[in-house]
Amino acid sequence: MTIKQVRVYSPGSIANLGPGFDVFGVALEGIGDIIVLEESPEPGVKIDVQGVGADKIPSDPEKNSSGAILNHVIEKYEPRHGFNVEIRKGIPPGTGMGSSGASAAATTVAVNEMLGLHLSDRELVKLAALGEGAVAGAPHADNVAASLLGGFILVGEDWDVIRLDAPRFGIVVVVPDIYIENKTKKARELLPQKIPLKDAVKNIMHASRMALAISQKDGKMFGSNINDRLVEPYRAAMIPNFWDVKQAALDAGAYGCSISGGGPSLFAVGDNIYDIGDAMQKAFGDIESTCYHTRPSNRGTRVI
Ligand code: HSE
Repeated sequence: MTIKQVRVYSPGSIANLGPGFDVFGVALEGIGDIIVLEESPEPGVKIDVQGVGADKIPSDPEKNSSGAILNHVIEKYEPRHGFNVEIRKGIPPGTGMGSSGASAAATTVAVNEMLGLHLSDRELVKLAALGEGAVAGAPHADNVAASLLGGFILVGEDWDVIRLDAPRFGIVVVVPDIYIENKTKKARELLPQKIPLKDAVKNIMHASRMALAISQKDGKMFGSNINDRLVEPYRAAMIPNFWDVKQAALDAGAYGCSISGGGPSLFAVGDNIYDIGDAMQKAFGDIESTCYHTRPSNRGTRVI
């Protein structure tokens, strides 16, 4: 027996977290998307997008992360019905808070539930990453894995991920009011194919310490190692006032600050996240911005 309607919530996430490009992700508390998936007597996929930034999300299933997943499921599992999807956005798209990843994660869990597919975590990550890839240009699992499983994520080979419970620490995400079309694709194209060995060594050092900090439940050690030489210097050019905003966060007491996912928002880790967020917003100068005060969420995507 199939289920006619499933509602699923999926949290937003921060990917990379400084030195962990395409490997680290953390799910966020209090910000997420809802997907309502329904059986349809019509074949194919019909998408309706509502909520924050809905006008920026294509409802064409070929160009939408949920649509890409459902088209793939139709081809592979041949259900006797089509799908209507309502995407209720709580995460602003194109900002670096894992918006397309959360919608992809929610759709994956919803269709798994509706069709009784019994997919493993690894298969869920793979299917959700396929949806993410449809909008980002290349499948990557850091956002979708964090949204799916919650907590702190270390992406491995072939969609294998390690998930750790994250300790409680403050996170502020400041989103400048600028919109970059096809942002993740562009942000990935900015990255060099070759990197200096000394930069790779620094990233390995900081990333290792961040993973250790999670297992030792040490938010200060985690934040103090947010240092990235591989991605941040190249992507900073996409973000107006980036270096001033980062410095303002550190001056206000942040343990660390970097680009949130593919940007253009910045995240900072610290105790006094309200002061840090205010200082970052001021440093954006004339550019309007929105502040999200949050913390890691150890709960991932769930049926509601
Ligand atoms: N790891 C990805 C990137 C996250 O930085 O390109 C953005 O979706």
